[in-house]
Amino acid sequence: MSNFAELKYGDKSYQIPVITGTENESALDISKLRDQTGLITLDVGYKNTGATSSKITFLDGEEGILRYRGYPIEQLAEHSTFLEVAYLLIWGSLPTKEQLENFANRIKKHTLIHEDNRKFFDGFPTTAHPMGMLASVVTSMSSFYPESLDPHRPEEDVELTIIRLLAKVPTLIAWIYKKETGHPYNYPRNDLNYCENFLHMMFSMPTESYHLDPVIVDALDKLLILHADHEQNCSTSTVRIVGSSHANLYASIGAGICALWGPLHGGANQEVLEMLQRIHEDGGNVDKYVLKAKDKNDPFRLMGFGHRVYKNFDPRATIIKKTCDLVLNKLGINDPLLEIAKKLETVALEDPYFIERKLYPNVDFYSGIIYRAIGIPVEMFTVMFALGRLPGWIAQWKELRENKEPIGRPRQVYTGAVKRDYVNITNRK
Ligand code: CMC
Repeated sequence: MSNFAELKYGDKSYQIPVITGTENESALDISKLRDQTGLITLDVGYKNTGATSSKITFLDGEEGILRYRGYPIEQLAEHSTFLEVAYLLIWGSLPTKEQLENFANRIKKHTLIHEDNRKFFDGFPTTAHPMGMLASVVTSMSSFYPESLDPHRPEEDVELTIIRLLAKVPTLIAWIYKKETGHPYNYPRNDLNYCENFLHMMFSMPTESYHLDPVIVDALDKLLILHADHEQNCSTSTVRIVGSSHANLYASIGAGICALWGPLHGGANQEVLEMLQRIHEDGGNVDKYVLKAKDKNDPFRLMGFGHRVYKNFDPRATIIKKTCDLVLNKLGINDPLLEIAKKLETVALEDPYFIERKLYPNVDFYSGIIYRAIGIPVEMFTVMFALGRLPGWIAQWKELRENKEPIGRPRQVYTGAVKRDYVNITNRK
């Protein structure tokens, strides 16, 4: 097949190069389009726009495929660990035993937060949303490591920032929880692995250490793996676009956290639980809410349903559903919200509205139920998503810098007023 597509515009025709990726995805390279034709492309919401070429994550929404650096998500969720996946995403290949040990040990050495940075927590009201606190404290970390502000520093310095972020974000999240509950902060423990240490910092009390159940530790590890990257989604594109101005990694990740916050993105896991709770409190009438979701005059949507790219099923939802059953069985929890979730899924999947629009449960439909069973409160769900997404954001920021990508700067089609003269306030009608 020809490596060009032909564009006819006016009385001229132009050859637009076609780029093909390693999984045979094809794209029109329109980077010279404006110079050649005077035209730009318009694609509100970037539904059909490739913003970069990336070697990190492959996603086929029609087939329900997700691979990190070529490895299927199902295999990684079954056999790998979050730290190994983080290494894979950031450095491109699976680590050797020695590399992984070295990586995990370096992370353990950086889990403490500077005591002055800890004081930031005193300034927040107890009602502050965890995402607002996380975004602020992560961004503020750049002030504690000013060398990180230099975008052209040597590779080993960038690596140290990466290690610091992976090490400190779990501590920050656990402290956000402690701030909200008014309980004393727990310091990290180096004898525990990444997820164990996080659960300890969240739930241990001065009077009693948290009991680390391997089923819970494993479920948390899986959830983090499933959220670790998802190619050019809203928050990742934000990290890349902020990074493209050569902003430091802490600032870029802080911006990504803000983008993740919204209910149409990472905030959906909180919204799912709130929706299930609302249906439960309203008598559990699932059909009523399915009708509301279909009613165009009603702003209600089934949260946890639909995805910009998955149009068949979300492979992460399939894995997470199994984990959810395991956790609830192990903890002996009979969650009425899970029953509502299951009913909702059955009704929606058989309804022509959802079938025609290819709306399936996404990863967030079940993640909230697991977090709730573990004891993580609803308002903390999105920071848990941020913890999982951290290696993906880092990997994408690193790739952008290594590719020496130019500053991100979309164009627009202006539809406002044409030129008009300023009118003095006394003469305005
Ligand atoms: N409930 C009811 N109708 C829906 C839903 C839903 N959850 N999602 C989409 N639709 C309808 C929508 O009204 C539209 O209908 P019509 O063609 O008649 O106007 C059609 O489906 C297409 O929707 P869209 O909003 O144009 O699709 P999108 O690709 O722009 O949005 C989405 C994708 C995820 C924002 C959307 O499906 C949604 O709002 N879902 C609920 C929020 C949610 O669960 N978000 C988490 C996504 S997974 C986590 C992540 O990776 O960020």
